[in-house]
Amino acid sequence: MDSPLLRRGESADKRCCRGLIFLPLGILAITVVGHILGGSINDSVFNGENKYSDGIGTYNSEIVESEKGVVAADDGRCSEIGASVLRKGGHAVDAAVATALCLGVVCSMWSGIGGGGFMVVRSASTLQAIAIDFRETAPLAASQDMYEANLTAKDIGPLSIAVPGEIAGLHEAWLRYGRLAWKSLFEPAIKLAKDGFVISPYLGQSLVSSTEMILHDPGLRQVFAPNGNILQVGDTCYNVELGKSLEAVANQGPQAFYNGVVGEKLVKDVRAVGGILTMEDLRNYTVEITEAMTIEAMGYTVHGMPPPSSGTLGLAMVMNIFKSYNDPDATKGNLGVHRLIEALKHMYAERMNLGDPRFANISNAVSNMLSLSFAKKIQEKIVDNTTFPSDYYQYRWSQLRDHGTSHFCIVDAERNAVSLTTTVNGHLGAGILSPSTGIVLNNEMGDFSTPTNISPDKLPPAPTNFVQPNKRPLSSMTPIIVTKDDRLIAVMGGSGGMKILPAVIQVFLNYFSLGFQPFSAVERSRVYHQLIPNVVKYENLTCINGDHVEFSAKEKQFLEDRGHQVVAMDAAGAIVQLVVQNFEDAIDIGRKGGKISNNQQDFGLLTAVCDPRKNGNPAVV
Ligand SMILES: *[C@@H]1O[C@H](CO)[C@@H](O)[C@H](O)[C@H]1NC(C)=O
Ligand SMILES: *[C@@H]1O[C@H](CO)[C@@H](O)[C@H](O)[C@H]1NC(C)=O
Ligand SMILES: *[C@@H]1O[C@H](CO)[C@@H](O)[C@H](O)[C@H]1NC(C)=O
Ligand SMILES: *[C@@H]1O[C@H](CO)[C@@H](O)[C@H](O)[C@H]1NC(C)=O
Ligand SMILES: *[C@@H]1O[C@H](CO)[C@@H](O)[C@H](O)[C@H]1NC(C)=O
Repeated sequence: MDSPLLRRGESADKRCCRGLIFLPLGILAITVVGHILGGSINDSVFNGENKYSDGIGTYNSEIVESEKGVVAADDGRCSEIGASVLRKGGHAVDAAVATALCLGVVCSMWSGIGGGGFMVVRSASTLQAIAIDFRETAPLAASQDMYEANLTAKDIGPLSIAVPGEIAGLHEAWLRYGRLAWKSLFEPAIKLAKDGFVISPYLGQSLVSSTEMILHDPGLRQVFAPNGNILQVGDTCYNVELGKSLEAVANQGPQAFYNGVVGEKLVKDVRAVGGILTMEDLRNYTVEITEAMTIEAMGYTVHGMPPPSSGTLGLAMVMNIFKSYNDPDATKGNLGVHRLIEALKHMYAERMNLGDPRFANISNAVSNMLSLSFAKKIQEKIVDNTTFPSDYYQYRWSQLRDHGTSHFCIVDAERNAVSLTTTVNGHLGAGILSPSTGIVLNNEMGDFSTPTNISPDKLPPAPTNFVQPNKRPLSSMTPIIVTKDDRLIAVMGGSGGMKILPAVIQVFLNYFSLGFQPFSAVERSRVYHQLIPNVVKYENLTCINGDHVEFSAKEKQFLEDRGHQVVAMDAAGAIVQLVVQNFEDAIDIGRKGGKISNNQQDFGLLTAVCDPRKNGNPAVV
């Protein structure tokens, strides 16, 4: 059990033994994948037999290594499709398009072309990182008081649907960086939708827990309960209409969705059940592209999304608080966990002042969250032997819960990188699948606050995040790319709504501050706090792969001694995907024939990890 996977003498804190087993398996997987999959996408992805039947398949490792390129997605089939695009010479962005489309088919519970997301792309040739915001937008007919009569309608049903951005976002990214034909990137997803795909264990579990919602909606029933019974793990699921919609967008471009036949059918379906979406909404949808927001954390440079994402700012604020301790050991041990929880509570208090910067003046909150002097003041309010009631954290607005999502990381042979988080918000979004297009519709309106939404904490909702036409709701999604001295070091992000930020922050600390190896950094048990309710949740759960993730009784006691109310959670909170590049075994790519970049960019060994809490598996080129 001594620690090839634990870096720099980290040994006391080994919660994860599985990682030790996985390094060799990971190396094995590279060889196996390399041999079996050669150049073609199709064989192993489509004859699902090796995946969920015998449990010994190509995808059976949550960690892989490669010198050439990696894809780490929530579903091994989609990682493999992304890797196949890289093998054909595609840019990381080409692979991202194919991977996202695949996820929208085999994981349509969480993401798809009826949703939207955030994407950070870093180009290896320009070293520039850009932020692509294709988050869903409030329809033109939306208004601040639209949920006055029925607050539930914000979170579920036709009025919860915001204008989808997924196709537009993927297309904008592809226009800038894509090398392969747009159409070719759709082929694998179309095939999966039309010819069927096997229900994965995680999806199977989630379908069961959404039984009522599925049986209630004719569209969802048609896809997920075609014979009246919810499909089970191992069953084949078909979504032929989605295949046709994808085909139309493949052939005609995004206008098929935003100003053509797919959009028209979609709008008709939505309006038939009482929604307010119009063709004008679709025609008017725009993708927002800016430079990535760049912060310093633990001596690294982090490139992420600006608002309406709260991800980069949240990470910055917590890292600045740790920096204020002026002590490299500030993050360590049980005391480090206590300080993290306190920092998260302060961060969540500030976060609710954020919103869509195109509609609300959030400059104060943004500068606070980025400010070292603000962080220092907060750090001085954190006490090592105690926690406090919620009002100590001076929050003003009620907390909003968001959900979601799917995250993947891609790095290609040139070290272009993509970090992409995509979502339909809640599980199965609005609970509506448009029958004529096969598209699951998002319920992103639920991420806005509304004036009548006085939550259990009895606080008013945050005005910066009120509904307005064309506005985008506040988000927790945190796709990031980490560099140091212009070299790519890591790509990461997570899914799981409000739990994304705590999860990404903990994996970041595990890897960059506490010295855990990549797999352990992801698998290690996590704590969650969102200020309201004033409760720490800790993981004590068994992953899909059988690994047990447990916070120890000692750790729990340590927190209880400080007055925390501590509660176990037996289901995964958030899911994190991580890719790191290690230069200790730097590769001389020139010698291998592929002189790729004019910059003095080094090429290290890429390690890709998928979170064992969900059944994702990474793939290599
Ligand atoms: C409120 O909205 C929900 C979701 O659309 C719906 O199911 C429910 O019937 C509505 N309630 C009322 C009183 O209209
Ligand atoms: C279309 O969207 C833009 C912002 O994205 C907005 O300024 C404009 O008013 C919208 N068009 C209509 C007709 O509302
Ligand atoms: C936004 O608010 C800040 C302070 O709260 C103020 O200094 C600034 O002028 C405002 N910006 C705009 C565009 O109103
Ligand atoms: C925390 O420590 C301070 C002294 O540093 C002490 O005054 C206080 O009583 C302690 N609080 C608790 C809850 O132990
Ligand atoms: C975790 O759950 C197991 C049962 O599955 C229980 O025996 C153990 O005490 C729990 N540990 C903690 C710290 O809650």
